[in-house]
Amino acid sequence: MNIRLAKADDLLAMQAANLQNLPENYSLQLWMYHIITWPQLSFVAEDHKGRIVGYVLAKIDEEKDNEDDASTATHTHGHINSISVMRSYRRLGLAKKLMLLSQEAMIAIYRASFVSLHVRQSNKAAISLYRDALGFAVKKVETGYYADKEDALSMQLTLGSNH
Ligand code: ACO
Repeated sequence: MNIRLAKADDLLAMQAANLQNLPENYSLQLWMYHIITWPQLSFVAEDHKGRIVGYVLAKIDEEKDNEDDASTATHTHGHINSISVMRSYRRLGLAKKLMLLSQEAMIAIYRASFVSLHVRQSNKAAISLYRDALGFAVKKVETGYYADKEDALSMQLTLGSNH
């Protein structure tokens, strides 16, 4: 198993994995936009034949420190758009490694202060990955966030501490 940066050539396979593993799917343009705009933040896991078996798609958000303030001070944080690992490759530590690589790049390249994500409140495996394996905490519950009206947990992890 090999984990490496995602490149434009990987996008179709990443999109296929996403379609198979999650109900939240995106246009190829959106996948491409992420890889072009934040080329150091998204990673893939491949098997010994080079087939994509997992991915993490991430981005950077920049927000003004104070919306009412006329100054241009901003803070930067990372956001995980989507992560998944094909069924027969789960519980091997791939998702944790994909997340850690993306988080390290968010710190090293963008000085991101925290990383955020949304997860379905019923998604026990992913919540355990974020909370137990990576140290994320729930910031708030977003009611009816998903297309089928399931609630999302909005989770965050402060970067630059021990993670
Ligand atoms: N049950 C309980 N805990 C789990 C589970 C599970 N099924 N899967 C992972 N964990 C936790 C455990 O603490 C695990 O450590 P351990 O195996 O030593 O106990 C730790 O997370 C690390 O697990 P990994 O092996 O790195 O996780 P994996 O590679 O299996 O991928 C993932 C986890 C991505 C959630 C996978 O199950 C998956 O692809 N699910 C479908 C897609 C999905 O739900 N993606 C997340 C949506 S939210 C978003 O994209 C922002």
